[in-house]
Amino acid sequence: MRGKHEMLAMVRDVVPKNVKCIYVRQQEALGLGHAVLCAQPVVGDHPFAVILADDLIDAKPPVMKQMVDVYRRERCSLLGVQQVSRAETRQYGIVKPGRREGILYPVTAIVEKPHPSKAPSRLGVVGRYILSPRIFHHLQRVKPGAGGEIQLTDGIAALLGDERVLAHQFTGVRYDCGSKLGYLKANVAYGLKHPEVAREFAKHLAALRR
Ligand code: G1P
Repeated sequence: MRGKHEMLAMVRDVVPKNVKCIYVRQQEALGLGHAVLCAQPVVGDHPFAVILADDLIDAKPPVMKQMVDVYRRERCSLLGVQQVSRAETRQYGIVKPGRREGILYPVTAIVEKPHPSKAPSRLGVVGRYILSPRIFHHLQRVKPGAGGEIQLTDGIAALLGDERVLAHQFTGVRYDCGSKLGYLKANVAYGLKHPEVAREFAKHLAALRR
């Protein structure tokens, strides 16, 4: 067990001293694109990152660090992508890639949750974006798309008419914590690596299987 002071320091360290948290509430569930648009007054005219917390990604370095490093070189919008199965294209924004340059693909088109027969590739966007502030211009104008929602994907599709966008195939293990099974898998994977509980947890799991 940790001491009280150690635990307090741990809680305080969650937000580093140079970080200020500002919260904006999306009053109505009108879609991811609308949610991002709600942040415009805080973000202003700067490039910014979007992290979807239900896409938990275990990676070293962290995926956003990998993407920021690429951003510093490329200076354009970046979409974190992974290969998904053909059957799963209906759950993701799917990019149409141009000619691959290492882990980067120029995005030539993007569609939200296409049917497998219509998907332009198997490269799915998984919850990590670095976006140019020009996206706000388009999010103010896009019409409701898939599921009747203002889709970030549709804003990005419009952005393609003005600016370069790259798909960044990052390395890392991704857990879909928006699904019950994904959430459970993440807990088990992180539990089995946690320095405090890993040994006991592994023993417990082994005992369950007997
Ligand atoms: C959202 C986006 C989708 C993206 C996905 C990643 O969909 O609309 O383009 O691929 O997140 O998890 P949601 O999972 O919220 O339905």
